[in-house]
Amino acid sequence: MSHTPLLFSGNANKQLAEDIAKRLKVHLGKALVAKFKNEETRVEIGENVRGSEVFVIQPICKSPKGDGVNDALMELLLMIDALRRASAARITAVIPYYGYAKQDKKTKGREPISAKVVANLIKVTGAKRIVTMDLHAAQIQGFFDLPVDNLMAMPVLCNYLKKEGLCDDKIVIVSPDAGGVHRAELFAKRLNASLAIVFKRRPEPDVSEVTDIVGDVTGKVAVVVDDMISTGGTLAKAAEAILARGATKVYTVATHGIFAGEAIDVLEASPIEKVIVTNTIPFAGVENHPKFVQLSIAQTLADAITRITTNRSVSELFGDEESPNFANPLPAPDALEPVAVS
Ligand code: R5P
Repeated sequence: MSHTPLLFSGNANKQLAEDIAKRLKVHLGKALVAKFKNEETRVEIGENVRGSEVFVIQPICKSPKGDGVNDALMELLLMIDALRRASAARITAVIPYYGYAKQDKKTKGREPISAKVVANLIKVTGAKRIVTMDLHAAQIQGFFDLPVDNLMAMPVLCNYLKKEGLCDDKIVIVSPDAGGVHRAELFAKRLNASLAIVFKRRPEPDVSEVTDIVGDVTGKVAVVVDDMISTGGTLAKAAEAILARGATKVYTVATHGIFAGEAIDVLEASPIEKVIVTNTIPFAGVENHPKFVQLSIAQTLADAITRITTNRSVSELFGDEESPNFANPLPAPDALEPVAVS
């Protein structure tokens, strides 16, 4: 098998795929990913992939042109199928944002487990490995009987916060719900900061209410850490509650900026100083907005692709959280500085 990776992209986030390809000093593979007149997805791979190590880069999210989440998923599946039938040696699905992750278990009767359905589809079409980032629930890895590399945006986000002076005893890292505590702990360790937890309830889907805060936020700059921003309600409500408890300012960081529905308006109207996300999802609508910052995780994905292609450890990219050096990790030899793209 050739050690030069072949990269292909659907339409969900071509800019990110091009950025990764540039860092790997390769071109994106030729592929037609379009629609028939009847709206069905049409795919044709435009070059030989026989015997090759192939990566398909496609988050499961809306495209900048407005194609929907389901279009992104269908493009991903049909590209994998086409590449498998064209005799690619190994196909890795690079899914920077794994959509359909919210329904990852039955919380009441007659609900699907959508995250499992998507995993089945990806496996059945022929992917042999998955690379993703900050899964909404880490146990989704177990929905695949395949190797899954669940990368973290944490180093890129922490580097940015450190550069902005948001670290040490000036700040408190806040998890906006009980489910995010482990992620918040990693940020707190890396930034040498204290930790607080907001407790939230959802009286109905996409609506959140803060019930309590554990930990001291008084007199500190709070940095709220989440995996995704959908309606913006979780972070806006958390910010109000944290300020009411005596924090001086609130910043928020999240890996995936979905910004669904009225999210931009909700966040604009909120007391949050800055909303910092990565480019796993295209940044439509808030480019050049002073309150929103988007950081590139292209280098992290490029490093993971290099390491997979050359059979090197991927977890080394993130440091050992039990190590005393976790707060000051040595940069990986192939890591570049994160690039702010806003
Ligand atoms: C919840 O479990 C997640 O970590 C996020 O807090 C949530 O999905 C954000 O959703 P929204 O922005 O709609 O409140």
